[in-house]
Amino acid sequence: MKMMNNKNAPFTCIAGIGSAVPEKILTNFDLERMVDTSDEWITERTGIKERHIVEPGTPASSLSIQASRKAMEKAGISASDLDLIIVSTVSGDMKFPSTAVFVQAELGAFNAAAFDISAACSGFIYGLQLGDLYIRTGQAHHVLVIGVEIMTSMVNWKDRKTCVLFGDGAGAAVLTPSTNSAGLLSTYIGSDGRLNHLLYCPGGGSLYPATNGSLRPEMFTLHMAGNEVFKHAVTKMGDSALKAVELAGIQPEDLDLMISHQANIRIIDATAKRLKMPKEKVYINIQNYGNTSAASIPIAIVEAMEKGLIKEGSDVLCVTFGAGFTWASCVIRF
Ligand code: ACO
Repeated sequence: MKMMNNKNAPFTCIAGIGSAVPEKILTNFDLERMVDTSDEWITERTGIKERHIVEPGTPASSLSIQASRKAMEKAGISASDLDLIIVSTVSGDMKFPSTAVFVQAELGAFNAAAFDISAACSGFIYGLQLGDLYIRTGQAHHVLVIGVEIMTSMVNWKDRKTCVLFGDGAGAAVLTPSTNSAGLLSTYIGSDGRLNHLLYCPGGGSLYPATNGSLRPEMFTLHMAGNEVFKHAVTKMGDSALKAVELAGIQPEDLDLMISHQANIRIIDATAKRLKMPKEKVYINIQNYGNTSAASIPIAIVEAMEKGLIKEGSDVLCVTFGAGFTWASCVIRF
């Protein structure tokens, strides 16, 4: 990558953003036929009605590429303009190489460096912060940040406590130095590795290698202590949302919209309450997608823009929480 002089740009802005979800929809009623659950239970406890799922074997790069093409078109750039591709995922195509290099190859972005990061549901905002740093230190001019998950590749379809929660999807944003006062006003990230045992997928790494033929299939699916995750998510999402607002130098009442990670409607409500955000300023689409992890925030941003809820000058708070635990928040002025 070459050094650029971006020092006159006040902020890093999102020049274009796109998303992609698979066509196939799995409803709560479909799940009723698979495990001992009900539409009523899932709706009441989570807010989810349906989720989009891939055909088995669909790689994360394929949704990433669809989302990226839309983001680049909106940004008015071509693949050769990209200096860096950051893919945030915990369900990448392969253990290695990175999903980012598959995306690079398919897009033809041969002037870019490409790598993956892993921060679970917090990954997209981790990627935004990283992209912002590359741009503001002059190391890149156009950064493509992707949040993608094929969550269904690690769901245990026999475990009703988890299989009802997740969906597949991708979102991508082109970052570039802003020419006005719009852009990332703040980003904030954090993690607490002491709580790694509350949400994890153990198999296939160096601790439990897949080459050890004795591993049970459950070693390759996600495990979660739902109640514990819930408690920590409520606290940390509220804390980090307030931190991003403070770092942006504004007040919660100045925000035009809050986009929370779409994991559970009750977590979203609790976070909104902490910030005293009125209902009409809280974007919710969990009913249609479930928890798409790193893709959840960009999918929601794209939809909110399409619905006219984000306009030029809107200040939008994004906040998320995930395995690790990790959390992240940002305020974006569009
Ligand atoms: N259908 C019917 N009953 C169910 C189901 C289901 N799908 N799942 C659990 N139950 C039962 C349980 O077995 C339990 O029954 P029991 O009392 O007879 O044992 C009962 O419902 C209550 O179970 P809880 O786990 O206490 O239910 P809770 O209200 O906590 O809801 C949930 C569970 C939805 C998982 C919630 O804890 C949650 O959303 N946690 C956050 C987890 C999350 O979102 N993780 C994603 C990654 S991190 C993030 O994105 C924030």
